[in-house]
Amino acid sequence: MAQPLQCPVSHNDYSRASEIYGHYALLDAERERDRFHFNDTTEHGFWMLTRYEDVLAGFQNSTALTTDVRTALFPKSGIPLLPQDLNGEEHQKFRKIINRFFAPAAVKRMAPLAHSRCIELIEEIRDHGHCNFVAEFAIRYPTDLFLALLGLPVSDGEFFLPWSENMLNCMLQGDVDGANLWQAKILDYFDRAVEERRTNPLDPAEDLVTRLLQAEIDGVPLSKDDILTTCLSIMLAGLDTTRSALGYIFAHLAQHDEDRQMLIDDPGLTASAVEEFVRLYPLVIQAGREVKESTEVHGLDLAPDDVVWLGIGSANRDPRMYPEPEKFVLGRPGLNQHLAFGAGPHRCLGMHLARLELAVVLEEWHKRIPHYRIKSGAPLVERGSQLTLENLELEWEV
Ligand code: HEM
Repeated sequence: MAQPLQCPVSHNDYSRASEIYGHYALLDAERERDRFHFNDTTEHGFWMLTRYEDVLAGFQNSTALTTDVRTALFPKSGIPLLPQDLNGEEHQKFRKIINRFFAPAAVKRMAPLAHSRCIELIEEIRDHGHCNFVAEFAIRYPTDLFLALLGLPVSDGEFFLPWSENMLNCMLQGDVDGANLWQAKILDYFDRAVEERRTNPLDPAEDLVTRLLQAEIDGVPLSKDDILTTCLSIMLAGLDTTRSALGYIFAHLAQHDEDRQMLIDDPGLTASAVEEFVRLYPLVIQAGREVKESTEVHGLDLAPDDVVWLGIGSANRDPRMYPEPEKFVLGRPGLNQHLAFGAGPHRCLGMHLARLELAVVLEEWHKRIPHYRIKSGAPLVERGSQLTLENLELEWEV
């Protein structure tokens, strides 16, 4: 970092766990104190953009700000990801291969499975009258759908789930060796699945792995490594995020009877509720970027090699964009411009799938377990880095 500081220094370590909503409290206070901060809690340090308009401008300035750094908290994570690590034209070409599998029409085809698997999982716990919502439901559900998306048996979730959990936890703690260990197991599993599909290809218009095996970029087929990395990247991007969103949504609904009743009375409000929940509780609180060429974002000068924090968690709760941002308000103006899924070329590949998954759970859960509460005295701890509730103990009458 060659330049003199142009703004206050933040000492907040956002990789640390806190009580529930603790990270939002810090981010909200910081955004209102000053427009930009330099955070000194990592070896390299990073510039924090926190207002909605600045964060959006950062996402859109994708020539100067690239994903050579994906998270400001661990700028050199060491694990290659696709398409995340690509930029510019290369990135566009890669996204073109996989986009259609995540487009609204493809996601719609997954709806019957999303409903039936959701119902099965709820029925497993309904008669118990209580559950750890995170461990017993919220992580199992997206894992099963991810396996189905890759054409793999949903029953593999039993051993696959702990591998993916362990790998992500190591990554979020900056434990590269641990992450590599779990990654090797997962890649080996994908490898066998990909080889099976090479022998028995399906319709490449409908099967993602067959498509990856047959795809070419500028006449060159994707390498085996690239195919495996793509499967891994979709897993890492899609499972923890959906689980975490479900945790915050159900923690909210368990504590706000009037919002829950509204969804029970009118399931037609579900899609709009999902969007407002995703805005209100952004769990990917930041996207990291590395500065490739000198640039400026609304008065903040950035130099090559600087690391930038695009503060999704601050932007989505910026009162300049969303008045009374801490409130759950259906149909707010500008809601469809929230940044929970990012913006610009790296905007979330799986956002339509995420929306479907969240909406299906809201609908099917409330049909079967309309009223529930958080178990008295149960701790509500929020992981740092990429937010999630470690546990959510719910109980209901049976
Ligand atoms: C509520 C759930 C989700 C949230 C909040 C979320 C959030 C995000 C955000 C903020 C980004 C942009 C990161 C950046 O610009 O650096 C992103 C990218 C991505 N997401 Fe999601 N995501 C969710 C669910 C999913 C799901 C279900 C999948 C797939 C199964 C998925 C796959 C991806 C992929 C592959 C990327 C990288 C796109 C690229 O670099 O071109 N996400 N997500």
